[in-house]
Amino acid sequence: MIDQKTEIIINKKIAEATYLLGLNAHKIVSTAKPGQFVMIRLTSENDPFLRRPFSISGILEDRLFIIYRVIGQGTRILSSLQKGESIQTLGPLGKGFTIPRPDQKAVLVAGGLGIAPLVFLAQKIDPDRLNFLAGFRSAKDVIDVRGLGLKDVELNLATDDHSLGQGGAVTNILEDLLFKPGRSELTVFSCGPLLMLKQVVKITKKFRIECQVSLESNMACGVGACQGCAIESASSYDTSSYLHVCKDGPVFKSEALDWNKYDLKKT
Ligand SMILES: Cc1cc2nc3c(=O)[nH]c(=O)nc-3n(C[C@H](O)[C@H](O)[C@H](O)COP(=O)(O)OP(=O)(O)OC[C@H]3O[C@@H](n4cnc5c(N)ncnc54)[C@H](O)[C@@H]3O)c2cc1C
Ligand code: FES
Repeated sequence: MIDQKTEIIINKKIAEATYLLGLNAHKIVSTAKPGQFVMIRLTSENDPFLRRPFSISGILEDRLFIIYRVIGQGTRILSSLQKGESIQTLGPLGKGFTIPRPDQKAVLVAGGLGIAPLVFLAQKIDPDRLNFLAGFRSAKDVIDVRGLGLKDVELNLATDDHSLGQGGAVTNILEDLLFKPGRSELTVFSCGPLLMLKQVVKITKKFRIECQVSLESNMACGVGACQGCAIESASSYDTSSYLHVCKDGPVFKSEALDWNKYDLKKT
């Protein structure tokens, strides 16, 4: 884990209230894995005091990319920063995705901003073995990921308001896909709102497909010191009844968690 001053190389709006941030982070990128995150200090002042967690959305050479949505004070400050300014970045943190073997096929299921960690994962998978499903509320929310080293990857889109791609929930596309032959070779990777994740877990359980999910929770420290991100594990999976999203996750096998007990704040 490295705490590094990182220079902003890009900070531009890419969709409704959504920005792409690029940082020169040569030390952090050398060990970062898909699914891991960073904690960013937004200002040298004391307010906001706490760093904010963001998934690593991709790495191109020495540059680390983050896709973020402006929702409160911290992300508002972040969106006002300009190319050439620097921010303090701590990472890489947490446990990431287990990358599929070359003979496996991966289905990535993103809901809204949940696309952020999955873009980095997609960078590591052969496009011929990848099916990237992404759901958004509306066409104006759709995030174009082709500039992030994914020019050969086609997003299979769904929008809630039927303005682009298939109308309705992205999980409908997942279910249709799993009805087709060859599903036993698949692993599903997902990140998004809790309701969507619960549906993904239900579907993959029904088809007996392995599933890894990336979770969010409010985080104060990001390194396992404050207990603020503790969640209950499935009793059949782990002898300790609590897991920490920051240290044991944010990526978990779906069977590690007790899905009936979660009410996490999601992007
Ligand atoms: C492991 C992890 C990875 C994340 N990755 C990304 C990412 O790639 N892109 C991105 O845009 N966001 C991501 N988030 C969420 C991001 O950390 C929050 O959006 C951010 O901290 C909000 O800061 P703020 O100061 O703007 O809002 P605040 O002023 O802190 O909060 C404004 C509102 O947002 C709510 N909020 C605070 N934290 C979260 C949270 N973690 N999730 C949802 N709502 C929250 C608050 O309860 C409040 O209602 C991630 C969170 C975690 C834990
Ligand atoms: S955020 Fe402090 S223990 Fe996880």
